[in-house]
Amino acid sequence: MNPLNVSEEEFRRLAARVSSMAGDYYARLPDVRAYPRTSGAQTREALDEPLPLEGLHGRALDALGKVMAMSRAPSPRFFGYVLGSGEPVAALADLLASVLNQNVTAWRSAPAAITIERQVVRWIAQALGCEGMSGSLCGGGSSANLMALAMAREARLPANERGAQPGMVYASSEAHMSLAKAVALLGLGRRNLRLVPVDEHFRMSAAALEAAIAEDRAAGRAPIAVVASAGTVSTGAIDPLEQIGAICRAQGLWLHVDGAYGVPAALVAAEKFRGLSAADSMSLDLHKWLYQPMDCGMLLFKDPSHARATFSHTGEYARVLDADPVEGFAFFEESLELSRRFRALKIWLSLRYHGLNAFRAAIRADLEHARQLVESIRGTPQLELLAPVELSAVCFRYRECSAGADLDELNSAILRRVIDNGRVYLSNASVHGHFALRACFVNHRTQPADVAQIVPEVLEAAREIVAGGR
Ligand SMILES: Cc1ncc(COP(=O)(O)O)c(C=O)c1O
Repeated sequence: MNPLNVSEEEFRRLAARVSSMAGDYYARLPDVRAYPRTSGAQTREALDEPLPLEGLHGRALDALGKVMAMSRAPSPRFFGYVLGSGEPVAALADLLASVLNQNVTAWRSAPAAITIERQVVRWIAQALGCEGMSGSLCGGGSSANLMALAMAREARLPANERGAQPGMVYASSEAHMSLAKAVALLGLGRRNLRLVPVDEHFRMSAAALEAAIAEDRAAGRAPIAVVASAGTVSTGAIDPLEQIGAICRAQGLWLHVDGAYGVPAALVAAEKFRGLSAADSMSLDLHKWLYQPMDCGMLLFKDPSHARATFSHTGEYARVLDADPVEGFAFFEESLELSRRFRALKIWLSLRYHGLNAFRAAIRADLEHARQLVESIRGTPQLELLAPVELSAVCFRYRECSAGADLDELNSAILRRVIDNGRVYLSNASVHGHFALRACFVNHRTQPADVAQIVPEVLEAAREIVAGGR
């Protein structure tokens, strides 16, 4: 027998053990530290081992306890970055996706998976008010942004045959770093990503955008695309999508919406996202605010012919010979990826199990958590809000400081102390150049009582630092 074969009984035994560990882990989440108590040296010492030449069999699983203990848990009091909470039904689907081991390239390789992914894309587009858009799942917002800008480049300044020329891309000064990476990788030139100033709500200034485009045209440069943020990573600001869409139409520019974080909120607050459906392309991460386990990014686009013009480059061995619109469909003609995981199974099962309205309720709860924290900050004289709260990201800081001391340093020390204390986890942002504490609510496990811990934790950390002379 091939030594890699695992008998049916053994598989069932292992699966029962893993599922019992997973169940115990979920049960512990409400009380677990928001950040594991470990260091670089400790994780190395615990997990470094020689490559096993002979199998450990069942004992291989013994180390999973250590892995779980040294993982940053999706605790209800983890408020850092934009880290979704990993919905359990979707996690089960991920196990089955690996068991099925589909390669979601083309219908003939994965009939059910292709059909489900296309359906999930249609469902989400429709629920967002963008009926008719198509697209695909990918690793995350960075990949989706890269693919979207590749489409924009091919549509406005074709590069696939003759190579890239410099082309101007516009995004707000608050836009995500993945956009600078994308323009660099696409050969457009990082210097040609124009960061347009924002207003006092951290939204791109439409007037400044128009002026920048006019200036570039006058200087002989070639504008190709505008990236509007629908939920900036720092403060959750939503650029004025309608106005930007009108400018793009008038100027013949591609409109990409980076909604990796914020766009799922359009399921409950469509009025904040007016103009979204005018986008030529859009990114949204279902592993962020649609609570899916990593990874589950989504790229949507209006006209699949642009995706095909950009990505279709079929080698003979993979050519699809079928003219049937369902059986002849291939994601690799519309995406960077050829081998692709069955990502759609988790979101499909999760939506079927809970229903869209449950996700809407969870997003509403997160918006409410942000409002709760804002109220709590407003009621605490030692704290101040640093930015308006449009979605579920709240930037604030401790503002009492002895004469001559530096507020940025103090808040940075507070953040380190809060994380060390381990009861809540916050991350940071830079707001008008100031160090901000940042809480972002994208976690279906969070309850109002968890949110209520944030302000006392920050005040306690500040007291400890001041008492200890830092
Ligand atoms: C606005 C925005 N765009 C893009 C990204 C990148 O997404 P990913 O981490 O899935 O690549 C993020 C991540 O936080 C984001 O908030």
